[in-house]
Order: sequence, then structure tokens, then C-alpha cells
Amino acid sequence: MKNKLKQLLMSNNTLWFVYKTLRLYLRHLSMLRFYFYDIYTTYQYMHWPFKEHSKIESFKAELLLQFHKLEKGIVMPGKRRVFGEETVIRIIELLNLWQQQNNNLTDPVFLSSVQALKDYKTKIIEDGFIEKSKVIKKINDYLQGLNIDNTSIFTTPEPLCNEYKEGLSSFQDLVSFRRSVREFDDKYVEISFIKKAVEIAQKSPSVCNRQASKIYYIRGRNEIDFLLSQQNGNAGFGYQIPSLAIVSVDQTHFFNSTERNQPYIDGGLFTMSFLYGLSAQGLSSCCLNWCVVPSVDRKTHKVLKIPKSERIMMLVAIGYPAKGVKVPKSARKNLDDVLVYKK
Ligand SMILES: Cc1cc2nc3c(=O)[nH]c(=O)nc-3n(C[C@H](O)[C@H](O)[C@H](O)COP(=O)(O)O)c2cc1C
Repeated sequence: MKNKLKQLLMSNNTLWFVYKTLRLYLRHLSMLRFYFYDIYTTYQYMHWPFKEHSKIESFKAELLLQFHKLEKGIVMPGKRRVFGEETVIRIIELLNLWQQQNNNLTDPVFLSSVQALKDYKTKIIEDGFIEKSKVIKKINDYLQGLNIDNTSIFTTPEPLCNEYKEGLSSFQDLVSFRRSVREFDDKYVEISFIKKAVEIAQKSPSVCNRQASKIYYIRGRNEIDFLLSQQNGNAGFGYQIPSLAIVSVDQTHFFNSTERNQPYIDGGLFTMSFLYGLSAQGLSSCCLNWCVVPSVDRKTHKVLKIPKSERIMMLVAIGYPAKGVKVPKSARKNLDDVLVYKK
């Protein structure tokens, strides 16, 4: 039946052309279902509640995010100021909920959050802002009611581990040296180091070896300042970032919307190798999210002359670490939360 119909259509050129064109458009149209699916799952899962989390995963994710704001504040270079008061209030609220829900009190996310409050308090005292602070009493009250003192291994900040030595020998050393650094030396970064890091990144796997990822390396202060003014994660340290990379992925490398997530997968793998390539040469970096509204994304493409077909993955701050720089502890979850071993 199907074949007969096909033969009939083929016997007439006009009919055959109309059929083929319609089929092509219908196929294109049917691809829209992938985008609707994305919208649905994003709407369904990617939102946090105003107060209580119903899932432990998102609860932990918010705690990680909140206490990371404090640990970042603690290592910020430049003029000292009172910071993070709303964050402290939210952390205490979350920690109280954590206990009310009888969640695990030995979980590193919980212990790190408690320790971050302690370290925040120390920082405020050290900087001489105890009188100005509106939240130290709240921290004291919370800590007094808490019978937990084994949090010190999560003390933040800590010194940048394994200060770079010529020829890092083991991968583990490299992994320890690669931390998000937010205070840089003003030593000039030779372009040859960036080239080497990009060559290393090029060794990353990519879907069918399509190699859609790219680096735009930017050194001009005006362009750096423009980019940082569009980005929401560099407050307090952006002004002294000596150079920036934009990681982009060219979407024209992918055949249809079944590959819609591939830019982020390939771009993420590429970026990771790039970061290690920088670290292996004694350079430090800090990824900067590109979670911007479409108008900002469009404007940035225009200003930086990046083709519209390229999707910006993230920015990366690059430079030599400031001498004796400290980095947030950024404690990691329990291995059991991350490794599911199905025997
Ligand atoms: C895609 C991405 C975006 C990030 N965006 C920011 C950012 O906007 N500002 C910032 O200070 N850190 C940013 N970070 C750095 C993370 O906070 C950091 O990787 C995390 O806390 C773990 O710390 P570590 O990199 O020192 O191991 C980002 C990291 C990634 C991977």
C-alpha cells in the first residue's frame, strides 16, 4: 500500500515535489518536540522552593550554594566590608530545617555549612566589623544550641594546595593545584601558555570527533570589563582579573535537536581539559557562569563579534595566582552520594 502510494506520487513530478517538501517541513516541525520536552523538564525540576525543599538533593544543593557565597566572600581581595548577612540568615534557616527533618548530622554538606558560619564570624571579627554586623548574634545563638564540634576539618579558606612546582608529576597534584582562584598576580600571561592549554583541550573527546568547541582569549581591559559587567558571578574580584577566555561551541556542528545537549557536554569536557592545561603550566583560573538573559547573550555576540551560531558556554578568568592566595575549602559530598555501585 505504502509502496503503491509512493509509486503514484513519483509518477507525477509536481506531486512528488510537493510530497518531498511537505515531508521535509513535517520532519523539521516534529523536532520541536525536543524543545517542548526541554521546557517541560526544566519547568518541572529546575526550581527551588521559597522555604522548604522536598528533596534532599536540592536541599543540599541550596546549602552548598549558600555557604559557598560566604566562603567566596571570605577570600575576596580588596577593601574589607560587611558581607553575606542575608546569606547567613538563610543558612541558619536551612540548617534548622535540616535538623527538624532529622537529616544526617555527619553529612559534609551540613558540617561545612556550620563551619562556614564559624569562619564567617572569625572573618568579621578579624576585619573589625563585629559592632556593625547584624548577624553575629544569630550565629552565636545558632551555634550555642548545636552540640556539634567536629566541623574544623571543613575550615575555609585554606592555602592553595601544592603551590605550583615545575613539572607537576602526578595527576593528583595537578587536580589539587586546579582550584577556582579569585585573586591574581599581575604577572603577564604569555600567549604561548594559552596556546598550549588550548592544544591540550583539543585532545578532549567530542561527539564523533566533531570538535565544535572554541576559545576566545581576551586581554583588552575594555572587553574584559564589558564581559564582566554582563556576568553575575564576579563581584568583588572581577576588577583584577588579568585575562578572560570565552568558551563557545558552534551549534552548526550538530545535526538536529536530538543533539541539543551536546554543545554543553562537549563544551564542558573541552573546558575541563583547558583548565588542567592552564594548571599544568602554573596558571590559575576561575570558571564564570554564562547564565544570562537572551538580550545579554545577543549583545555579547555582537560586541565580541562571535557568530550567532556559537553558543557561549562560560567565561574563564585566567592569571597567575596571587602570592599566598587562599581558596574556599569547597568541601565535596560523600563518595556514597556520588558513586552508585550496582553489584
Ligand atoms: C560552569 C561554572 C560556572 C561557574 N561560575 C562561577 C562564577 O560565576 N563565579 C565564581 O566565583 N565561581 C564560579 N564557578 C566556580 C565554582 O564556584 C567552583 O568551581 C566550585 O565552588 C568548586 O571549587 P573549585 O573549582 O575551587 O574546586 C563556576 C564553576 C563552573 C564549573
